[in-house]
Amino acid sequence: MKPQQPQPSLLLLLILLLLATVSASPLHPKQLKSLQSLNISTPTNDPCNNNQSSSSSITCDDASPYRHITSLFFINCSSTLSLPFKTLKPLSKSLLSLSFTNCPSLSPPYHLPISLHSFSAVSSFLHNNHTRLSGLFLARLKNLKTLNISSTPISTSRRLYVILGNMHKLTFLKISNSNLSGFIPKSFHSNLTYIDLSNNSLKGSIRISITRLTNLKSLNLSHNSLSGQIPNKIKNLIFLKNLSLASNKLSGTIPNSLSSISELTHLDLSMNQLNGTVPSFFSEMKNLKHLNLADNSFHGVLPFNESFIKNLNFFEIGGNSELCYNKTVVSSNLKLEGFAPCDKYGFPLWSPSQKEESLSGENDYGDYNGEGGNEKNKEKMKNNEEEEHNGSNKTLFGLGIGLFSIVFLILFLFYLAKRCRWI
Ligand SMILES: *[C@@H]1O[C@H](CO)[C@@H](O)[C@H](O)[C@H]1NC(C)=O
Ligand SMILES: *[C@@H]1O[C@H](CO)[C@@H](O)[C@H](O)[C@H]1NC(C)=O
Ligand SMILES: *[C@@H]1O[C@H](CO)[C@@H](O)[C@H](O)[C@H]1NC(C)=O
Ligand SMILES: *[C@@H]1O[C@H](CO)[C@@H](O)[C@H](O)[C@H]1NC(C)=O
Ligand SMILES: *[C@@H]1O[C@H](CO)[C@@H](O)[C@H](O)[C@H]1NC(C)=O
Ligand SMILES: *[C@@H]1O[C@H](CO)[C@@H](O)[C@H](O)[C@H]1NC(C)=O
Ligand SMILES: *[C@@H]1O[C@H](CO)[C@@H](O)[C@H](O)[C@H]1NC(C)=O
Ligand SMILES: *[C@@H]1O[C@H](CO)[C@@H](O)[C@H](O)[C@H]1NC(C)=O
Ligand SMILES: *[C@@H]1O[C@H](CO)[C@@H](O)[C@H](O)[C@H]1NC(C)=O
Ligand SMILES: *[C@@H]1O[C@H](CO)[C@@H](O)[C@H](O)[C@H]1NC(C)=O
Ligand SMILES: *[C@@H]1O[C@H](CO)[C@@H](O)[C@H](O)[C@H]1NC(C)=O
Ligand SMILES: *[C@@H]1O[C@H](CO)[C@@H](O)[C@H](O)[C@H]1NC(C)=O
Repeated sequence: MKPQQPQPSLLLLLILLLLATVSASPLHPKQLKSLQSLNISTPTNDPCNNNQSSSSSITCDDASPYRHITSLFFINCSSTLSLPFKTLKPLSKSLLSLSFTNCPSLSPPYHLPISLHSFSAVSSFLHNNHTRLSGLFLARLKNLKTLNISSTPISTSRRLYVILGNMHKLTFLKISNSNLSGFIPKSFHSNLTYIDLSNNSLKGSIRISITRLTNLKSLNLSHNSLSGQIPNKIKNLIFLKNLSLASNKLSGTIPNSLSSISELTHLDLSMNQLNGTVPSFFSEMKNLKHLNLADNSFHGVLPFNESFIKNLNFFEIGGNSELCYNKTVVSSNLKLEGFAPCDKYGFPLWSPSQKEESLSGENDYGDYNGEGGNEKNKEKMKNNEEEEHNGSNKTLFGLGIGLFSIVFLILFLFYLAKRCRWI
C-alpha cells in the first residue's frame, strides 16, 4: 500500500499542473495589445474570461502557447470607438465571428478577414452617410455562414445578388430594415435554412429560385414591394415552419400546393391583394398555430369550423370585404373583428368597416337571422361611426330618425296645404 500511495497523487498533481498551464495559456500579446487599444477592459488579466454584462464580449480558442480571439461582440459602443487597420490586423488571423449591436457612430471596419464565419450588425454604422455598410464590402466575406443585419442601412450595391454572389456557405441570412433594393436573385448558391429580408424595398416577383432552397425553415419577405403570384413550387419547401409574405403587392389565389408544407406553423399573408376563396386545406394542417389572412380580397364563405379557429394561437381574417362566415358553423361569440356573417347565398350580411373598433362580434350579429337582414345592415352602416352602441341602440336610433322624418313630412305637408288654401 505504502509505495503505491504517492504515485496517484503525484499523477493528479501533474495533471492539475498541466490543466492549469493549458487554461492559463495567455492571449497572444499582439491580440492583447489590440484589445487594450480598443479600450476593452481586461480586469482579471484574462480577457478570454470576460462576461456578457460589459459593452463587449470575447471568446477565445484553447490553443497554446497562446490563445487567440475567435469572436468579438460590441454592444452599445462608445462614440469614441474606432477600428483602425492596425488594431484589426492582429485579430484577423483567428477571428471567426464579429458582431455590432447599437454602434451608431462607428464606421464599418474595412479590412475584415475573409475567413469570418459570422457577421452581425444591428442598429449600427448610422451616423456618417459616407461610411455606411456597403454591399460590396459584405460581398467580400465569402466564408460567411451567418449574415445578420438589421436596422443598418446598406449603401451602394444594395442588391442581394451582389451581396450574396460569392457566399456559398451561408445558412442564415437576415437583412432586415436595411434599405435593400432590387429583385430576389435568380439563383442562390448556398444551403440556406433561414431567410429574413423583411422591411426593405425588394420588388418583382417571388422568384422560383427561392423554392429551390429546400432546407429552408423560415422565410420572411414581409414589408417589401413584391408583386405577382405566390409560386406553386412553394410546396418544395417541405421543412418550412414560418412563412411571412405580409405587406407586399401579391395577387392571385393562395396556391393549393401550400397544403403539402406539413410543418408550417406560422403563416402570414396579410396586407396583400390576394383573391379567390380561402382554401379549406388549412384546417387539415396539424401544425398550424398562427394564421393571418387579413386585409386581402378573399371572397365567399370561410371554410373553417370553430374548433379549428379555437386551436390557433393567432387568427386574423378582417379586412376582406367579400368574405363572411357561416353562423351555423362558427358561433358569433368567437371574436372575429371586422368580419361579417353570411346570408344564405354566401355573401356578407354587411360590409365591415375596417376602422370600426367597437364591433366586438358578440351582440351585433345576434339581431340577424340570415334573411332580410340587408335593410338592417345599411341602417347599421350609417351608424357605424358611433362607438359604444350595441345593435339594439342602433336600431332604436334608426327608428327615431325614421319617426322624426315622418312627423316632419306630415307637418310640412300640412303647412303646404295651408299655404295653398290661402293662395
Ligand atoms: C462580470 O463583470 C462584473 C463587473 O463588470 C463582475 O462584478 C462580475 O463578478 C463578473 N462576473 C463573472 C462571472 O465573471
Ligand atoms: C445597451 O443599451 C440598452 C438601451 O440603452 C440597454 O437596455 C442594454 O442593457 C445595454 N446593453 C448592455 C450590454 O450594456
Ligand atoms: C480609449 O480611452 C481613452 C481615454 O479614456 C480615449 O482617449 C481613447 O480615445 C479611447 N479609445 C477608443 C478606441 O475608444
Ligand atoms: C444622411 O442622408 C440622409 C438622407 O439620405 C439625410 O437626411 C441626412 O441628413 C444625412 N446625414 C448626414 C450626416 O449627412
Ligand atoms: C442576429 O442578431 C440578433 C440581434 O443581435 C440576435 O439576437 C440573434 O441571435 C442573431 N442571430 C444569429 C443567428 O446570429
Ligand atoms: C421598417 O423600417 C422602418 C425604417 O427603416 C421602421 O421605421 C419601421 O418601423 C420598420 N417596420 C417594421 C414592420 O419593422
Ligand atoms: C434608402 O435608399 C434610398 C434610395 O433608394 C435613399 O434615398 C435613402 O436615403 C436610403 N435610406 C437610408 C436610411 O439610407
Ligand atoms: C444543407 O443543410 C442541411 C441542414 O442544415 C443539411 O442536412 C444538408 O446536408 C446540407 N446540404 C448541403 C449540400 O450542404
Ligand atoms: C417578419 O418580419 C417582420 C418585420 O421585420 C416581423 O415583424 C415579423 O415578426 C416576422 N415574421 C416572422 C414569421 O418571422
Ligand atoms: C417561427 O416564429 C416563431 C414566432 O415568431 C418563433 O418562435 C420560431 O422560433 C420561429 N421558427 C423558425 C424556424 O424560425
Ligand atoms: C384575382 O386577381 C387576378 C389578378 O389580380 C384576376 O385576374 C382574377 O380574375 C381575380 N380572381 C377573382 C376570383 O377575383
Ligand atoms: C352553413 O352551414 C350549414 C350547415 O353546414 C349549411 O346547410 C348551409 O348551406 C351553410 N350556408 C352557407 C351560406 O354556406
